[in-house]
Amino acid sequence: MSGAARPQHFGWFLARGFGPHGWGHPYLDWDYDWTRPDLYQQSARELEQAGFDFVLIEDAPSLGSAETIDLRVRHAFGGPKHDPLLLAPYLFQATRHLGVIPTVNPAAFLPYTAARQFATLQHLSADRLGLNVVTDAGSARHFSAESPLGHDAAYDRAEEWLGALRSLWHSWGEGALVRDAEAGVYADGTRLDAVHHRGEHYAFDGPLNAIPFDRGDPVIASPGGSGRGLAFAGTNSDIQLALSPLDEASVRAYRAKIHAAAIARGRTPDDVTIMFAIQPVIVSSLEEADRLVAASARPSDDVLRTIAQRQSSDLETDLTTLDLDAPLPEGLFAEHVSQGSLRRLVGDRDAATAPLRAHLTALARLGRITDRSGFVGTAEEFADLIEELGTWGNDGVLLWGDLHPVTVHRTLDELVPVLRRRGILRRDYTGQGLRADLRAF
Ligand SMILES: Cc1cc2nc3c(=O)[nH]c(=O)nc-3n(C[C@H](O)[C@H](O)[C@H](O)COP(=O)(O)O)c2cc1C
Repeated sequence: MSGAARPQHFGWFLARGFGPHGWGHPYLDWDYDWTRPDLYQQSARELEQAGFDFVLIEDAPSLGSAETIDLRVRHAFGGPKHDPLLLAPYLFQATRHLGVIPTVNPAAFLPYTAARQFATLQHLSADRLGLNVVTDAGSARHFSAESPLGHDAAYDRAEEWLGALRSLWHSWGEGALVRDAEAGVYADGTRLDAVHHRGEHYAFDGPLNAIPFDRGDPVIASPGGSGRGLAFAGTNSDIQLALSPLDEASVRAYRAKIHAAAIARGRTPDDVTIMFAIQPVIVSSLEEADRLVAASARPSDDVLRTIAQRQSSDLETDLTTLDLDAPLPEGLFAEHVSQGSLRRLVGDRDAATAPLRAHLTALARLGRITDRSGFVGTAEEFADLIEELGTWGNDGVLLWGDLHPVTVHRTLDELVPVLRRRGILRRDYTGQGLRADLRAF
């Protein structure tokens, strides 16, 4: 494929959060210190040079339930994690155009504190802040001794929280900020809204003591995939992070659901940039791609053990001591274990009879981009996929990986020129901030 392709937005998803980067990889010996900003600043500069709209940083404020903490931290799959909100200013300082979207959980911030901190960052960054709003209830015990909200109620609270932030951000009415040096007037206090918020979850007064934005509020992203999650996106989000098979029917159906949710709440489809998450393995030749895929179908026991460790962390259940050749013991998983994660482990195999080895082998298996069985391919093949997504009206993609120079280069070195030559990847930013870049095409 070639010619005038539809330009797409690109984001980088630091999928394991602000944690021990490189742990378990040979590139640990590059000797970057994951607790220091240099590592991420280096990568952020490369993403900006590549024309990415933003980097989005995953987060979970918890190490999970008390009984399974060792499973989470032993191999650093589930933590430790530092706070991505506090990394954001370092990334802004290292770049001029790149958007930075830390993940925030409303449970962790009172609305006034959140509105004030985010307003400050939006000004400091010249309008490049985004917030990935998630509602994970598993970490609730760190913020309150009350029993956690249910799945949908956590979204309801997030909606109230975001509404509260917006009323604070907009509490400086039209004309309130005067800044007339000759008259000696900075602001007109009579034009500030006092914001008496009395809601189901929050009660506080305004107005906010931060000044309003010239180019709009911080961008809101959300990743929820449930009915309630999609409704949240329709009401609130500028970016929806989408996880879906990438065939035409699935992509169109996912987009239609978000668009319907936006319209139902008085917004338009153009208000939400939908970005599908993909973890590509970009290789230099067809032979390399075929070799990787063939090898992945016959994983060694060492590879299976590493996957078992990762799954043990995500599922908060120890799989590492189980017999690889026996089925999963009945009643192994506690009630709170995510059903989605369990479905990903077991797939369409019969959990009662299939051995653990079969599940882990399926997780190890890579597929080729060319037959759409996976994401291993050359830069040209991956560009074909992105171009095809564009023909279905797609807005953009979110590439997963460590925010580590080794990962960024391995993925982008050959890909960026190919995408640029095809007109899929931007060459210029608007210079007006993240919201304007998202709306530029
Ligand atoms: C691309 C992507 C990024 C996500 N990032 C986070 C995150 O940083 N923190 C988090 O707690 N959950 C994250 N999630 C999980 C979602 O918040 C959500 O729980 C999940 O998509 C299931 O949707 P639901 O909560 O509407 O059922 C992410 C999901 C996706 C697809």
